[in-house]
Amino acid sequence: MNAIILLGAPGSGKGTQAARLAESLGLPHISTGAILRQAVADGTELGMAARDIMAAGRLVSDEIVLGIVEERISAPDCSRGFILDGYPRNQAQARALGGVLSRLGAAEWIVNIAVPPEELAARVRGRRGTDGRQDDSEEAFRRRLEVYESESFPLLDHYGDRAVNIAGLGSRDEVFSHLCAALPFATAPLTTPQLVTR
Ligand code: AP5
Ligand code: MG
Repeated sequence: MNAIILLGAPGSGKGTQAARLAESLGLPHISTGAILRQAVADGTELGMAARDIMAAGRLVSDEIVLGIVEERISAPDCSRGFILDGYPRNQAQARALGGVLSRLGAAEWIVNIAVPPEELAARVRGRRGTDGRQDDSEEAFRRRLEVYESESFPLLDHYGDRAVNIAGLGSRDEVFSHLCAALPFATAPLTTPQLVTR
């Protein structure tokens, strides 16, 4: 079982690349942010608890998100593996995940998508109004970046050599090629026509 963990700042392309990888590997894409947004839209108890915290760009409690992840990865479609987008986001979540994955006997593949802050801001500004995400407002996005810097960025130290850094600048295809190059079982489709010679 392969557990692929995508790390990166808000707007770094975790969701974009996780979706492509999910399609190419036939593994489920698990985005804690997307699951929480759906719960908010459905008005469930979970959604009620998460709504204001998410809109402010802060982290939902570790207990809530771990519950979401544990439940989702125990589903039958995750038996070959899964792609985590947006989890873990702090040391406590990383430790909890480590425990769960070792119980499952899963191999961890950790990839960090590195994008400079000015590009993150430009991307999130670019989707404002189209995606309707409340946390894309200037203020909430600034808070998400602060939370990322203080809580999530230190995960790179936590994982050390186990995390592979890839450049998140460039086209979506280029970033996908870097991502596939970091995973021995993934292959990126060729993006340029190749001459076949004999
Ligand atoms: P979450 O939904 O995970 O949001 P995020 O991490 O802040 O990041 P985004 O989804 O905005 O960015 P992304 O990295 O997925 O990039 P994307 O592919 O969209 O979390 C939202 C909230 O939920 C959190 O703030 C928190 O409240 C809560 N939450 C979630 N997980 C939690 C956890 N574990 N613990 C506690 N709370 C949690 O790309 C961004 C934009 O750029 C898009 O428009 C895209 O089209 C574009 N783009 C992508 N790639 C490229 C490229 N190569 N070139 C140009 N544009 C590109
Ligand atoms: Mg996302």
